[in-house]
Amino acid sequence: MKRHRIAVFPGDGIGPEIVREALKILDIVSKETGVSFETKEGLVGGAAYDQSGSPLPDDTMQLALSSDAVLLGAVGGPKWEPLEYRLRPERGLLGLRSGLGLYANLRPVVVFEDLIDASPLKPDVIRGIDLMIVRELTGDAYFGKPRGVRIKNGQRTGVNTMIYTEAEIRRIAKVAFDTARGRRRKLLSVDKANVLEMTELWREVVTDVGRDYPDVELLHMYVDNCAMQLIRNPGQFDVIVTTNMFGDILSDEASMLTGSLGMLPSASCGEKSAMYEPIHGSAPDIAGKGVANPLATILSLAMMLRHSFDMAAEAAIVEKAVRAVLKEGFRTQDIQQRGSTVVGTVRMGDLVAEKVRSLMV
Ligand code: IPM
Ligand code: MG
Repeated sequence: MKRHRIAVFPGDGIGPEIVREALKILDIVSKETGVSFETKEGLVGGAAYDQSGSPLPDDTMQLALSSDAVLLGAVGGPKWEPLEYRLRPERGLLGLRSGLGLYANLRPVVVFEDLIDASPLKPDVIRGIDLMIVRELTGDAYFGKPRGVRIKNGQRTGVNTMIYTEAEIRRIAKVAFDTARGRRRKLLSVDKANVLEMTELWREVVTDVGRDYPDVELLHMYVDNCAMQLIRNPGQFDVIVTTNMFGDILSDEASMLTGSLGMLPSASCGEKSAMYEPIHGSAPDIAGKGVANPLATILSLAMMLRHSFDMAAEAAIVEKAVRAVLKEGFRTQDIQQRGSTVVGTVRMGDLVAEKVRSLMV
């Protein structure tokens, strides 16, 4: 029987705690379905730097390359901030993205009915929100050259390059149109085509790809307007496709619709591999205290089951289990509300695990 190989990179801060809870769920899915998963742990980020002097050691990259999927916790922390740029934990993450060719980053933004009061926005504005941000992940200013800080005309001058080839735009546009096809068939492409030539090309190419998807409604919006519309009327959006940099910013903004960064999963996909991680960071201030919210990581695991292992039914069960536990009033401290029962990381993991088990039999 097929064994799915998963590379597990807990990373820094709360990473190890939340990943442990997701693996608990994986174990139950495996027991109940008979599908076997082979998990191997590796070091990335600050944890890797501390041990090997590199945020992305060769054996970590090799492990990632030889696996079917990667589960990542989080990287970074104040401890490593003084390091020079190429040694910082974030470089480990960016190295994995580019090394694995993970050009399509899917960030679902779903408002859970039971958490509606956790959002700073009015319930009427966010009720029922279910949108998907498709962020390009291996191009743009994140990787473009020239880059760096050098002396020019006698003064320090910083430069980064926003750059996309037509082929790069085409492939992310296809992912976005396909994603929209599986949903409400509405795609919004976000650019700054009134100012940046690069995004004028983006708009042209996305429009061209759209000719193959006459069943999907395509709209365009400038990024500044989109930032505003996400707060004013997020219900108008289904799938949003955008560049690496704009996607980074808009996805943090969109996460606030749900009220908590601790709930949002993500999938980064390429031709061969995929990586799954919560969109929140390593939260060094609460690391090791047993209070971190493991739900975004558990939901990332659900995305892995769906996208990498063709286990949509099991993914839906995991998502349903999370909803059920919230409905019963259990909350980690980041999403606590009046009248709710506050639980720690391990207990939250156990509650979801028990639910998954009962939903699977
Ligand atoms: C994200 C993060 C990363 C990014 C950082 C940690 C490098 O903010 O995944 O959104 O900018 O892509
Ligand atoms: Mg970000």
